[in-house]
Amino acid sequence: IPKSLMAKEEDEDDVDLGSGKSRVSIFFGTQTGTAEGFAKALAEEIKARYEKSAVKVIDLDDYAADDDQYEEKLKKETLAFFCVATYGDGEPTDNAARFYKWFTEGTEIGLQKLAYGVFALGNRQYEHFNKIGIVLDEELSKKGAKRLIEVGLGDDDQSIEDDFNAWKESLWPELDKLLRGEDDTGVATPYTAAIPEYRLVIHDPSFISEKSMNSNVANGNAAIDIHHHRRADVAVQRELHTPESDRSCIHLEFDISGTHITYETGDHVGVYAENHTEIVELAGKLLGHSLDLVFSIHADKEDGSPLGCSLPPPFPGPCNLGTALAKYADLLSPPRKSALVALAAYTTEPSEAKKLKHLTSPDGKGEYSKWIAASQRSLLEVMSEFPSAKPPLGAFFAAVAPRLQPRYYSISSSPRLAPNRVHVTCALVYGPTPTGRIHKGLCSTWMKNAVSAEKSLECSGAPIFIRASNFKLPSNPSTPIVMLGPGTGLAPFRGFLQERMALKEDGVELGPSLLFFGCRNRRMDLIYEDELNNFVDQGVISELIVAFSREGAQKEYVQHKMIEKAAQVWSLIKEEGYLYVCGDAKGMARDVHRTLNTIVQEQEGVSSSEAEAIVKKLQTEGRYLRDVW
Ligand code: 2AM
Repeated sequence: IPKSLMAKEEDEDDVDLGSGKSRVSIFFGTQTGTAEGFAKALAEEIKARYEKSAVKVIDLDDYAADDDQYEEKLKKETLAFFCVATYGDGEPTDNAARFYKWFTEGTEIGLQKLAYGVFALGNRQYEHFNKIGIVLDEELSKKGAKRLIEVGLGDDDQSIEDDFNAWKESLWPELDKLLRGEDDTGVATPYTAAIPEYRLVIHDPSFISEKSMNSNVANGNAAIDIHHHRRADVAVQRELHTPESDRSCIHLEFDISGTHITYETGDHVGVYAENHTEIVELAGKLLGHSLDLVFSIHADKEDGSPLGCSLPPPFPGPCNLGTALAKYADLLSPPRKSALVALAAYTTEPSEAKKLKHLTSPDGKGEYSKWIAASQRSLLEVMSEFPSAKPPLGAFFAAVAPRLQPRYYSISSSPRLAPNRVHVTCALVYGPTPTGRIHKGLCSTWMKNAVSAEKSLECSGAPIFIRASNFKLPSNPSTPIVMLGPGTGLAPFRGFLQERMALKEDGVELGPSLLFFGCRNRRMDLIYEDELNNFVDQGVISELIVAFSREGAQKEYVQHKMIEKAAQVWSLIKEEGYLYVCGDAKGMARDVHRTLNTIVQEQEGVSSSEAEAIVKKLQTEGRYLRDVW
């Protein structure tokens, strides 16, 4: 059934609310499920507190089939909450993108009947902290809706759950006024969220079939997306750093022939990697079960009535514990407070339960920040410290371990050159955490260990899918471009250059292009050196400028090189050129942004705020594009 039709059908069920109930709509824009979980938790709590509410949780993408329907439906809303995450370079999540664009780009809807609240999810380390929630909140108000509560600014760098709880606390007095009847003068009963738990069914080991474990795999020509991926084999895997380097960077090629996967230059690939065997074995021990145990989990009771779990089970059919832990459970992130609450509920040793509860209490806030968040203490490390915490599997998968998320990489090839391959350029994440654990990045470690068809008949593979991006070359190949990408920030530019090479071979005239690349040392990590030189020789790049950060006495970064070439850079961008930045958002992209401002000031002879306006204009015109993480 098309999503739009489904939304419509469900909606019609709701038209008659009966018995004078007020409709409350809770919308979510989610990428990894946190905003969705919050929306569902908010719904449960509103339902529990206010008898007179009829609450509905809505995926922004499913709300309406087109802009007209958005308008028609939104005008009927009287009370709505929005839990929306900011993602990437200040972008909406995939499922909120269509709504956000429509709502914030010029629609003239009047929402005088609507009262609303926004809880934003983001991370303060990033430049556009909670941009989507903040803009949505402002737009709702501009369009005449009544703001019930200040926008909540959830910061995932600290405890986003505390931010959410604090926001809810200031919401209740406002909702009391709206949703409690006049005769209802008593104090609302305190609400404690139930710990979600799936119904667990243990199966005979012979029950298991490959099919039941792979039912999320897209088949035929069905859309391939985060929910419908395809397994792709590794065709090539090789190290890009020289043996002198103490770090590792992997070039990996997925073979997509016969998978129906297609992509464009500049897109991202999502990769579902598995937890390493040693991690899975440790998790099995801590849970006290054999990895061969075959089970299934269900979000409904035996009679089919719902259990109140916020998300459907992460895997559809019976599965053995080893596979479930490897593929579906995030075991290495620091646990959220809700996970600790769930763990505490299944801890038999009273002193351990007490300590766990303390970590989640207001008094334990400092300790949680220090002992869990700042220490990057993984879920498994926490469980090791509390050996009597043995949650049943239904609770473990519903409330303790978040589902394992795909990792995204900027694709480093162009389909014009490699139609059957998706190339990835991946830096290995490896290093000690404050607790002394060696953190091995989930997907980069998998890529490091992946075996290619080139090397062995038993080559590795992973479920993958493509995520479209706006990071695209100008449609006119003669438009000048300036690219900055240190380290693996080079990835999408390698794709760009392959595309330009293909265009050139077709006789297309290319505009000027500069590539600023940054690495530590020519002898260690000047990745794809031969290819880059070849692009220069072929005239696909006009000039390659490399900053070496660890060769001389002074650190040289891409932005320093950019300053040296300020006049040339600005003359290329100024009229019609495009500027592209790819790489680390918190350090590099921020510094480059500042440098750009300086260059504009100097070249144009304007003040910093005037320069900021010029840069902003470049951004709105889509001529200053960033692919940052
Ligand atoms: P460093 O490791 O010597 O600090 C790729 O990672 C390259 O980007 C490295 O040479 C790294 O230098 C450099 N780099 C680190 N921080 C940066 C920043 N804020 N701006 C630009 N380049 C940076």
